[in-house]
Amino acid sequence: MNFNELKSTYEGKRVLLTGHTGFKGTWMTLMLKLLGAEVKGYALPPIEHNALYHEVRAELYCDSVIADVRNRDKVEREITKFNPDFIFHMAAQALVLESYKNPVETYQTNVMGTLHVLDSLKSLDYPCKTIVITTDKVYENFEREEPYEESERMGGFDPYSNSKACCELLTSSYRSSFFNPDKYNLHRQSIATVRSGNVIGGGDWSGNRIIPDLVRSLFNNEMLIVRNPKAVRPWQHVLEPLHGYLTLGAHMDKDPIKYATAYNFGPNVEDQLNVEELIKEAIRIWGSGNYKVSHNQNQPHEANLLRLDIEKAKKELNWTPQFDSKKAISYTLEWYKAVHDEKDIKEFTFDQIKTYYGINE
Ligand SMILES: NC(=O)c1ccc[n+]([C@@H]2O[C@H](COP(=O)([O-])OP(=O)(O)OC[C@H]3O[C@@H](n4cnc5c(N)ncnc54)[C@H](O)[C@@H]3O)[C@@H](O)[C@H]2O)c1
Repeated sequence: MNFNELKSTYEGKRVLLTGHTGFKGTWMTLMLKLLGAEVKGYALPPIEHNALYHEVRAELYCDSVIADVRNRDKVEREITKFNPDFIFHMAAQALVLESYKNPVETYQTNVMGTLHVLDSLKSLDYPCKTIVITTDKVYENFEREEPYEESERMGGFDPYSNSKACCELLTSSYRSSFFNPDKYNLHRQSIATVRSGNVIGGGDWSGNRIIPDLVRSLFNNEMLIVRNPKAVRPWQHVLEPLHGYLTLGAHMDKDPIKYATAYNFGPNVEDQLNVEELIKEAIRIWGSGNYKVSHNQNQPHEANLLRLDIEKAKKELNWTPQFDSKKAISYTLEWYKAVHDEKDIKEFTFDQIKTYYGINE
């Protein structure tokens, strides 16, 4: 689906975006701005002083509500007041290592937050398409070569992954119990879930994620310590899954029954790098940098091998990755170089979106 087709879906529509102050949420806010949507955001304030949200002044492009998804009444009030045409639910405690430190808070935010959003849909008088953002880590991971299909069993070893698997089960239950596609004309709610791979792109400054850690070491001329060099992940540029979510929303708008299901979004299976390959490519593009592997055995468990099958999104949504992994890495590093060179980051970020859609005037 190209930019103009998306625009014909989203222009003038009300879109509620939870997690709009985060990494993916900020990019999504700018994309929705270009598509002409009326955006209301719902999230906690950005954590980092240099958060992308601040850098691009994303508050100019949405009605920003700073509030907690654990506050059930507030979530419901804001949703019913806004009467959205679309909801993208991204707000989450999104870090694996943090989830080991704060499992209760992780489950509360991810599971109860999702529950509050889904339960609020009961109070809506108008049709709405809701997309719950989970992750590739929802699958029971057998550390096998074959990629996971949407129909496979949910699992999740660590609290973050498991909390997101719970969100999948929760959404499935709500879809069966209260918003059954067979009775769409009675409730007019369409709900889908999306599972994307490890996302890279400009503006991610989170701790314990590979690109932000690498960029910090490049900026400071420090040695990068790598935890799992051989771990294979479905890396992709942030614009790819976000474009996938928007494409899915547009399909749900046309057929709210058929597309109320789960979709994987990831890179092509043959194009999946391990952590060390990603780092080497990034250092090559940057032109300098060093890393060494940590042999600390006392690290919490993280998946080593995880591949996503994206045939369903390709076939049903006509979505396909635009970037291979090298392009995703170079697009990402160019963004951080722009920060390093003190360029206008708001303009640079909008330009990256426009170039992705081929609409650079
Ligand atoms: N970044 C990735 O690689 C990746 C991969 C797959 C899925 N995801 C999912 O995509 C979504 C966005 O991820 P991200 O990388 O942008 O994360 P992020 O940490 O940058 O942003 C998280 C957002 O959620 C909000 N939030 C957290 N706790 C909240 C609470 N209690 N109440 C209200 N808002 C709260 C934050 O304020 C922020 O806006 C998450 O659901 C995440 O699980 C991310």
